[in-house]
Amino acid sequence: MDSHNEFFITTPIYYVNDKPHIGHAYSTIVADTLARWREVRGERVVFTTGVDENAQKTVDAAKKNGEEIHAYVDRMADIWNSTWAKLGISNTDFIRTTEERHIETVRDIWGRMEAAGDIYKGQYQGLYCKGHEAFMKEDELTPDGLCPEHKTAPELVTEENYFFRLSNYQQKLLEFYEAHGDFVAPAHRFNEVRAFVENGLEDISFSREKKEWGIPVPNDPNQVIYVWADALVNYITAVGVEGWEEHPADIHVMAKDIVRFHAVIWPAMLMSAGLPLPGQVISTGFLTIDGTKMSKSLGNVVDPLDLATRYGADGLRYFLLREVSFGDDGDFSEEKMKERYNADLANGLGNFAARVLTLAEKEKLHFGKLDAEFETILKDMKRAVQEKMTVFKFSDVLAAIWIAISFGDRYVNEKKVWEIKDAAARTQALFNLVSLLDTIAAMLAPFLPETSKKITAALEWKNDVLHVKKPDILFPRIK
Ligand code: MSP
Repeated sequence: MDSHNEFFITTPIYYVNDKPHIGHAYSTIVADTLARWREVRGERVVFTTGVDENAQKTVDAAKKNGEEIHAYVDRMADIWNSTWAKLGISNTDFIRTTEERHIETVRDIWGRMEAAGDIYKGQYQGLYCKGHEAFMKEDELTPDGLCPEHKTAPELVTEENYFFRLSNYQQKLLEFYEAHGDFVAPAHRFNEVRAFVENGLEDISFSREKKEWGIPVPNDPNQVIYVWADALVNYITAVGVEGWEEHPADIHVMAKDIVRFHAVIWPAMLMSAGLPLPGQVISTGFLTIDGTKMSKSLGNVVDPLDLATRYGADGLRYFLLREVSFGDDGDFSEEKMKERYNADLANGLGNFAARVLTLAEKEKLHFGKLDAEFETILKDMKRAVQEKMTVFKFSDVLAAIWIAISFGDRYVNEKKVWEIKDAAARTQALFNLVSLLDTIAAMLAPFLPETSKKITAALEWKNDVLHVKKPDILFPRIK
């Protein structure tokens, strides 16, 4: 693999105990936006997503559905895969943890950690939360002993397990964090991670007694590998161990719930296996509904496909990227979504594009030189977009683009472009507007890919002359 000119980005691999909701769609759309941002710059992009099938909760879900487990995971994997396809996600791979290529990679990494002396057998007793697929400490539970997130009582588990010597990596992790000041973003999440590691790391149970499901521990058929030790390795599965050695992931995207796994356990596993570490772990907040986290276990979920059918995949992307400030929680309501859609997309971008294209259609426009005020507006927009993208401030990026749209709208109104009699003045005004629209469309490519394509296709320069092909209404108003 060519390690230059390449960008490697991942989403979490999602559990298959239910279908995707807009919380999952949000992470996937964030990753897709970053992938497209690089792609339009000519970089070769590896963008992976997938499903985490080997969890205990998969077994429970299959049982609850009365389905044979293999049939169940096949069906669910299809649902996840096709949801991303329907939302126009540009992933280059889709990892299933039941695939042979993944199982082999997991066993390879296990072998490396074992060879490094970091895997040993011990007795474990703890409170296991299936929602988290992790052990919890008593002081993390509610007063009546429930997991505060999943509202269920964790199960007391006493087993002989293999352990991973996470405690070996406290110092090394702290040194790594020191040397990589933007390893976790936003910064306050990095502080939490650092504080957690500074507090001391305990070894972690890395296997479970074999039930019916999971990847067996090499040379011990009575144990299966802990689902997180298995799932994290999916990022290597995507490119192979050699591929990872040449170019590890640049960015792992996720929500705050699983930052610790990615910023503490995962780097420690990689250090142990003698492999390079990823570039950055970036964390969104949670999407909530009426202030509560949306989750499969709580049953308050919104279907991204339903929203995409009614508002378009771009409508959904726009809402999530514009409404939620990166790193913070964001509350979803259909009311807010409709408001944003009508105001910013139907009346904003859609209306501006229609006005400019209608006016330009009637004119023979030659390529020319922009007026200075348009030069400035375009320069400011590009600078703001570039700056905000490096810190993942998608909402600010879109706000900056919408400033340019409002500027264009005002210009049309103030100049009364449709009334300008002087041909030279009129074509100059239209050239300004068309160029503005064209640049806005180009800037929007990572955020609203379908819309960007439609606008770009409507504006074709042939031998210095513009040919306009007006598309259908971009964003029909929604009542
Ligand atoms: N299988 C693990 C991840 C393994 S990655 C090696 C897992 N799966 S999950 O299905 O529970 O997905 C968790 C992720 O889904 C979150 O980190 C986030 O990316 C996304 N989200 C799930 N619910 C969400 C919200 N309500 N809001 C925002 N993101 C949400 O954990």
